Amino acid sequence: MTIDHPSFGKLDADRIIVFDTTLRDGEQSPGFSMNLDEKIRLAEALAELGVDVIEAGFPIASPGDFESVQAIADAVRGPVICGLARSAPGDIIRAAEAIRPAERSRIHTFISTSKLHMKHKLRMEPEQVLQAVTASVTLARNFTADVEWSAEDGSRTEHDFLCRCVEAAIAAGATTINIPDTVGYAVPEELGAILARLRERVPGADGVVFSAHNHNDLGLAVANTIAAIRAGARQVECTINGIGERAGNAALEEIVMALRTRHDALPVQNGIVTESILRTSKLLATITGFDVQPNKAIVGRNAFAHESGIHQDGMLKNARTYEIMTPESVGWTHTSLVMGKHSGRAAFRDKLRALGYGEIGDNALNDAFRRFKEVADRKKIVYDEDLVALVDDEVMRDHDHIKFVALDVHAGSRGPARAELSLDIDGVTQSSTAEGDGPIDATFNAIRALFAHDAKLVLFSVGAVTEGTDAQARTTVRLEEGGKMVDGQGADTDTIVASARAYVHALNKLLVKRRRTEPVAMSA
Ligand code: KIV
Ligand code: ZN
Repeated sequence: MTIDHPSFGKLDADRIIVFDTTLRDGEQSPGFSMNLDEKIRLAEALAELGVDVIEAGFPIASPGDFESVQAIADAVRGPVICGLARSAPGDIIRAAEAIRPAERSRIHTFISTSKLHMKHKLRMEPEQVLQAVTASVTLARNFTADVEWSAEDGSRTEHDFLCRCVEAAIAAGATTINIPDTVGYAVPEELGAILARLRERVPGADGVVFSAHNHNDLGLAVANTIAAIRAGARQVECTINGIGERAGNAALEEIVMALRTRHDALPVQNGIVTESILRTSKLLATITGFDVQPNKAIVGRNAFAHESGIHQDGMLKNARTYEIMTPESVGWTHTSLVMGKHSGRAAFRDKLRALGYGEIGDNALNDAFRRFKEVADRKKIVYDEDLVALVDDEVMRDHDHIKFVALDVHAGSRGPARAELSLDIDGVTQSSTAEGDGPIDATFNAIRALFAHDAKLVLFSVGAVTEGTDAQARTTVRLEEGGKMVDGQGADTDTIVASARAYVHALNKLLVKRRRTEPVAMSA
């Protein structure tokens, strides 16, 4: 049976819509906030990955959120661009305004339906919630034909009431019905049964797309999503690397590869270009500064590594003995060595295009090329990962108020460390010298001397971009000021320089954040 969908036209019964919420549910989790340029870049990568819908943000939450949803709606072509809204008219109007520039747009409106949420969070009677469902979907339909309605805490909602809410949403014109497992409480059979019963009982259910949105508090988000698909859900809401509120959302890469690898058991289709999965995962890790754990399915460093002798022996005889999918099918390549110190500017530009950077302005390209030459001089082998790290450092920081210029550090086992630092602050180069308990402390003190601030350093971490002692260090610095948290990243073959860059990046993000108003609490 096909569904006639306002954004996708005739949908075959086996077509799964991949709805990515990395930029909304993912971005709203602590430490994962992104700036405007980063969001646009990730949205472009998601479009290349082939997602069907990008939930770009929650426009009423803050002017910054509004601006980024609008900018993505304006810049990104291909996927439907979706804005989230509670049931209040102001939310829906703001979301409608933000998504207006999109080729195809969706408003996603939600309200809590469980007794617990209605009583304690909304302080609304069930009948008031039902009225809000009808009113919110009706209003949203005035702006776009593609409207999604979600029953927040749907998996813990009393079934008869859930049926009435879904019926009201469909009658008011919702084209997608989402039943989230908001708190990650459901087990697969249960979630499947909820969807199956809704599809059976609710009038009009055969004309809409049912959607699954599962959180991972019990580590069941992907299993619940698969159960939902088996029960007839044809949209999956997910995030890259499984980021999201608390323990995260269902991971896009895991759902998609489960569907591809077990097509025999799950005969459905989707539009994801699986070979782009790893690149998108790495891009998100670079932007947010959070690497996935080594054993993370599909995109973890060890996901295709075979350590034990027995496994290695089996692999040499026939890879299928221990590999259920090929590393290449998700974008792992055997070698990413490409560039050296003799590579020219044109080759560098081509390489960046191949890495998904699109068109880079001349100034940014010159700066990135200069950094590449510096790295290539110090490091024998320049890997794709090195290029991504240095270009992210350079290109994405074009509009920063504070820029790293130079650093000299004297450190060792005798006496305090001393750092001589130069920063460009709003176009003026300024220098200072500071001492500290070790080279990082001295460097951070020098930054504070040049740019006074009260932000507290709450996290400092160092990782290597590639292997070997000449690898670039990738550092993350988290600053906290008045309850606002920002993460900065830096990369360099010198760990202290990478740390200075990360601190400066975090400060720039803090300046942007200071200009935004307080976000609205996330409740319907
Ligand atoms: O988890 C949830 O219930 C949500 C809704 C806003 C869809 O994220
Ligand atoms: Zn959620």
